[in-house]
Amino acid sequence: MPLLAIDNVSVSYGKAEAVRDVSLQVEKGQIVTVIGPNGAGKTSLLMAAIGLLRSTGRIIYDGRDISRLETEERIEMGFCLVPERRELFSDLSVYDNLRLGAYSRRAASGEIKDDIAQVFDRFPRLLERRNQMAGTLSGGERQMLALGRALMARPRLLMLDEPSLGLAPLITREIFRIIASLRDLGVSILLVEQNARAALETADFGYVMETGEIVHSGSADALMHDPRLIATYMGGSEVS
Ligand SMILES: Nc1ncnc2c1ncn2[C@@H]1O[C@H](COP(=O)(O)OP(=O)(O)OP(=O)(O)O)[C@@H](O)[C@H]1O
Ligand SMILES: [Mg+2]
Repeated sequence: MPLLAIDNVSVSYGKAEAVRDVSLQVEKGQIVTVIGPNGAGKTSLLMAAIGLLRSTGRIIYDGRDISRLETEERIEMGFCLVPERRELFSDLSVYDNLRLGAYSRRAASGEIKDDIAQVFDRFPRLLERRNQMAGTLSGGERQMLALGRALMARPRLLMLDEPSLGLAPLITREIFRIIASLRDLGVSILLVEQNARAALETADFGYVMETGEIVHSGSADALMHDPRLIATYMGGSEVS
């Protein structure tokens, strides 16, 4: 049984259909990626999955139909979205942003401190900046803080919306290494990306979305070597 099954989901903005009959699965312990160009409907799909946008079809999480649950209830079940804009509390420190990431858990303060220490182990750059205001972090550091804050909720399923957006190649590689390491923690991941190559190198399975629909799917390895995708999404030349 997959941890997440998105089942014939459609999203409309007025008369415009942004997501049309999309179905996909995330198995436990997998990283699954959805790649596709601007405007394909990737963000709309994630927003529907977490309940921030109305949709038709079904969202099955851990065997349960959660389509009608409020976003807060989905979050309490271990479902988490790191949005494209990495919304942080700009006027609060790195440390306080992490602390607030645990708000949905009602955990004891000792436990929260331990979890913050673990986030700092994973992101040493955040430890160096623990008292810095989040609004003054660089783009890469903001993405790390957004990931770290999401981990504070102890999610079982993490949805990441374009974690590499606006980041230089070196820091992108670092972020993707960290994402891969989360799989070893037992977190399943649904990763939306325009950076197809980096996403497929990290993922187990992939879907390609164009104008609201899934047009290809397969193992990440198969998609990475598919000539049609190389031409459209990976700058045209195959790498091994
Ligand atoms: N609030 C909205 N009102 C109307 N149309 C919207 C709204 N949000 C998104 N859309 C439209 O829905 C379509 C899908 O947008 P979406 O943001 O889901 O795409 P995306 O794949 O995430 O793109 P990007 O890679 O640029 O983030 C686009 O045509 C977009 O203009
Ligand atoms: Mg988007």
